[in-house]
Amino acid sequence: MPPALFTPLPLGGDVVLPNRIVVSPMCQYSAVDGSATDWHLAHLGQLAASGAGLLVVEATHVERRGRITHGCLGLYSDENEAALQRIVDWVRAWMPSIRLGIQIGHAGRKASAQRPWRGGGPLSAADTPDTPWTTVAPSAIAFDATGPGVGFVTGGASVPAPTAKWHTPVALDHAELKTIKAAFVAATQRAARLGFDVVELHGAHGYLLHQFLSPLSNRRDDAYGGSAEKRRRFPLEVFEACRAAWPRERALGVRLSAIDWVEGGVTIEDTLATAQALKALGCDFIDVSSGGAVPNAKIAFGPGYQVPFAARIRQEVGIKTWAVGIITEPEQAEQIVTSGDADCTALARSFLADPRWGWNAARALGAESPPLPTPYHRAATILQFKPQPAAAKAAE
Ligand SMILES: Cc1cc2nc3c(=O)[nH]c(=O)nc-3n(C[C@H](O)[C@H](O)[C@H](O)COP(=O)(O)O)c2cc1C
Repeated sequence: MPPALFTPLPLGGDVVLPNRIVVSPMCQYSAVDGSATDWHLAHLGQLAASGAGLLVVEATHVERRGRITHGCLGLYSDENEAALQRIVDWVRAWMPSIRLGIQIGHAGRKASAQRPWRGGGPLSAADTPDTPWTTVAPSAIAFDATGPGVGFVTGGASVPAPTAKWHTPVALDHAELKTIKAAFVAATQRAARLGFDVVELHGAHGYLLHQFLSPLSNRRDDAYGGSAEKRRRFPLEVFEACRAAWPRERALGVRLSAIDWVEGGVTIEDTLATAQALKALGCDFIDVSSGGAVPNAKIAFGPGYQVPFAARIRQEVGIKTWAVGIITEPEQAEQIVTSGDADCTALARSFLADPRWGWNAARALGAESPPLPTPYHRAATILQFKPQPAAAKAAE
């Protein structure tokens, strides 16, 4: 029996992942007007040869104003689509076994930000030529209304505190909601044309769809705010429209922040209900993250700290889940899958640190090596000199 991490996963539609390892979406802040560059080809190219079963392209924005930074990917123009086609074609030619996904989103009030290495805070006139722009959100409440704060939170990474105050967004009216929903659909159609196997809508980390879900950012008193049910309405409408635009035979899921880690924010009970509603609309999986709604959340970072949320959603809603967040060791990932806490494991920083994480996990767990790209086949002679896993030794 192969280790559970290396068994195939039918994810949704006809899409079967060759194993349970996902390269989590990671913004590179290296696009030009939303279009992927040579950096993306090199970055995604090496990760396609990582031994993962699914590679998810970073948060890709449905509108120009929905980008987090000037360097973020978009799928709002023919140029954006053509630039991504080059990368998809490259991966299909050299690593046909890996499945390809893309995360589609809108940054809402967290848009118009500096690239993380320039501080990650709101853009100001001092950031020329990266000029700020007007942001939009469910309500006219800034990400950090109290003043400068931590701009960027990704898994505990620390960045210098921004010096400017976060932009106060313009509250979206009903006509604008229609426009944004149509932009999500158009980006989904582009992703379908590009040949992606999986689309994940970004409903986490304090970006637009999460801004609707969270009472911390959604103070509307119309049909899209107030009760949890009303706060869920726009994300569900967007999902439903994207589902109709996305081929049935391909997988469509959502990344959610299971909790906000703040009193008065999204709770796990809210998220269970959201996942249930998404499932009823044909959602294939929930990628379970947390946090990002507000800068002052007290997040209990630690190995596998979000796994219990994935486990509850999987068990109580009966939908496939991805676990993510400080999963670094092959044995840890194997345990998450064998215990039934999640259907697969998504890793981000571990793949930056070790772009062959999947090969090395196979070695550590005594699985067969994942497919190597043809020019790397001679590495197989090294990979076969693997230490025998403890279980195999004991059986001898
Ligand atoms: C460089 C970088 C960029 C990221 N960009 C995204 C993104 O585009 N979309 C997203 O949902 N999460 C993003 N994340 C969060 C990761 O997908 C992941 O959820 C988080 O890093 C925790 O996983 P890890 O502990 O394996 O790194 C990013 C993380 C890093 C380190």
